[in-house]
Amino acid sequence: MTSIAMSKPVHPSARDQLRFITCGSVDDGKSTLIGRLLHDSKMIYQDQLTAVKRDSIRHGSADIDFALLVDGLEAEREQGITIDVAYRFFTTPRRSFMVADTPGHEQYTRNMATGASNAQLAIILIDARKGVLVQTRRHSFICSLLGIRHVVLAVNKIDLVAYSKVAFDRIVASYLAFAAGLGFSSIVPIPISARHGDNVVDRSAHTKWYHGPCLMEHLESIDIQSDTASQAFRFPVQWVNRPDPDFRGYAGSVASGRISAGDEIVVAASGRTTRIKRIVTHGGDLVDAEAGDAVTITLEDEIDIGRGDLLSRPTERPSVADQFAAYLIWMDNEPLAPGRNYILRIGSQTVAGSITAIRHRIDVNTCEHLAAETLSLNEIAFCNVATTLPAAFDPYDVNRKTGSFIVIDRYTNRTVGAGMIAFPLRRATNVPWQALSVGRGERAALKGQKPCVVWFTGLSGAGKSTIANMVDQKLLAMSRHAMLLDGDNLRNGLNADLGFSKAEREENIRRVGHVAKLMLDSGLIVICSFISPYRSERDMVRSLIGKDEFIEVFVDTPIEECARRDPKGLYSKAKAGEIKNFTGIDASYEAPIRPEIHLRTMEQAPEQAAEVVVDAVMARALLCDERR
Ligand code: ADX
Repeated sequence: MTSIAMSKPVHPSARDQLRFITCGSVDDGKSTLIGRLLHDSKMIYQDQLTAVKRDSIRHGSADIDFALLVDGLEAEREQGITIDVAYRFFTTPRRSFMVADTPGHEQYTRNMATGASNAQLAIILIDARKGVLVQTRRHSFICSLLGIRHVVLAVNKIDLVAYSKVAFDRIVASYLAFAAGLGFSSIVPIPISARHGDNVVDRSAHTKWYHGPCLMEHLESIDIQSDTASQAFRFPVQWVNRPDPDFRGYAGSVASGRISAGDEIVVAASGRTTRIKRIVTHGGDLVDAEAGDAVTITLEDEIDIGRGDLLSRPTERPSVADQFAAYLIWMDNEPLAPGRNYILRIGSQTVAGSITAIRHRIDVNTCEHLAAETLSLNEIAFCNVATTLPAAFDPYDVNRKTGSFIVIDRYTNRTVGAGMIAFPLRRATNVPWQALSVGRGERAALKGQKPCVVWFTGLSGAGKSTIANMVDQKLLAMSRHAMLLDGDNLRNGLNADLGFSKAEREENIRRVGHVAKLMLDSGLIVICSFISPYRSERDMVRSLIGKDEFIEVFVDTPIEECARRDPKGLYSKAKAGEIKNFTGIDASYEAPIRPEIHLRTMEQAPEQAAEVVVDAVMARALLCDERR
């Protein structure tokens, strides 16, 4: 891009700037359109943003707000990745503009996504002779995913179809039908000829049948302020400014919303609240600050805040969670390795994390959902993400700044992915633990016993409930305080909302694990009888309870025998296809590798098996006594 002299300095401030992206290929007339826009409106335009300028912004010339662009690109630049997106700036008397121009081919999904992540509007170019193509759908989908809510459907080369209203209407109808599910709040179709200038800046005499705005008129007048005006206040702390012992300020850019001196704020992760004392800038203190302002905030109270903390109003808090669902765009030649440890940068927070599951990959051309084990360059998927520490964030469609993240490879330090958070998978963890004066020890001592969790696992019909029930009776006969939790019973109450998918079974066991722990803490011997088919979920409960208090009992009965016994008639139903995901039939069972107790029901009667378990519980109690 060549540099063009500026007749006056232009500061495209965020307040009246429209950031848009042009989507289409060279063949569609994209470059011609941009050239035509610039030329016909005789606008003042600037050179594309240079690295020097970015640095100057970073170092505090605060009135220029390119927050997202800077965040995004700076991160990329620090990570040594080249994203091929050209940004151009120009102004008209009514508004300033930033255009992101990205290559439109499929292999450049990541570039397009980078351009779209900053944009408020997308111009989707269509060649009037060709109509809606696969690439039109791909571009629209990516724009929608990246949070663009306004679309201009620029039906270009209208001169080559003899300015035909029929051709235009047909394309518009076909696009609207496709785009209905993409969540755009405005779609404005305009018949244009970039080459001849029809309806770009000046209204065309050839399209008398068209009564809408010409392109520039629309770009100058579309209301984008109301999209962000009502957003909640978010302030990611970039760094702690402590020049001398008397001053402690938190510097950063207001990501969204506004705040005034005296307002109450909360630190998302710690839940600590205080009030804003001063809003400091180079030009003096401000009464209030709003989205885009680079400021240093000081607070009434000395509370522990560091880089990466997110400030909000106590009434409008972000999510704080260590698991969330997100759309992920893979940007590296080396494929995603689910489960591997990456570095995630969410706003100004940096945390270790991993992609724990790919829920589905999305075909960007058809929007189809596909199964996937991994992701290759430019592929997009809906994933579960886990972080080692809780992070504060918003859903991307609520806040693009606090809802996006990048994934960095720990070893190469490259940016390998970019994500948009959909929703937290666990509730906030910013609830501090309340210390209780009476603990498990006192409660157990009152009952004169050593509490533990006896966890029966095995196939349906293996005999878990029968043996567990006997253990319960025997303990009662010995004046022991026990409680039996049974899968069927919990699924009638606490877990009545859960089915038998892997995720639902995991949730079932997670809840049971916590109930068992509460009962353990109240001093009881807790007997649990659940298929609990997955090793990982049993290990999860083991670590929740503590390995010294957890006795895993594998009730080992061959599936043929379980199906023969079929005490509830479920095997015959499963075999007839009337029950889906039935363990052992069309869902897997992962037998324990080293259970504390291994019961083989083909060799032992239930009575004997129950004795073995009771003996183990009692021996453990003795062992604990000896250890004291
Ligand atoms: S678990 O897999 O999530 O641990 P849980 O022990 O709570 O299962 O519940 C299993 C009981 O639910 C079985 O004993 C059976 O009565 C009933 N059930 C109904 N549908 C299924 C299914 N698809 N797979 C296994 N058990 C099922």
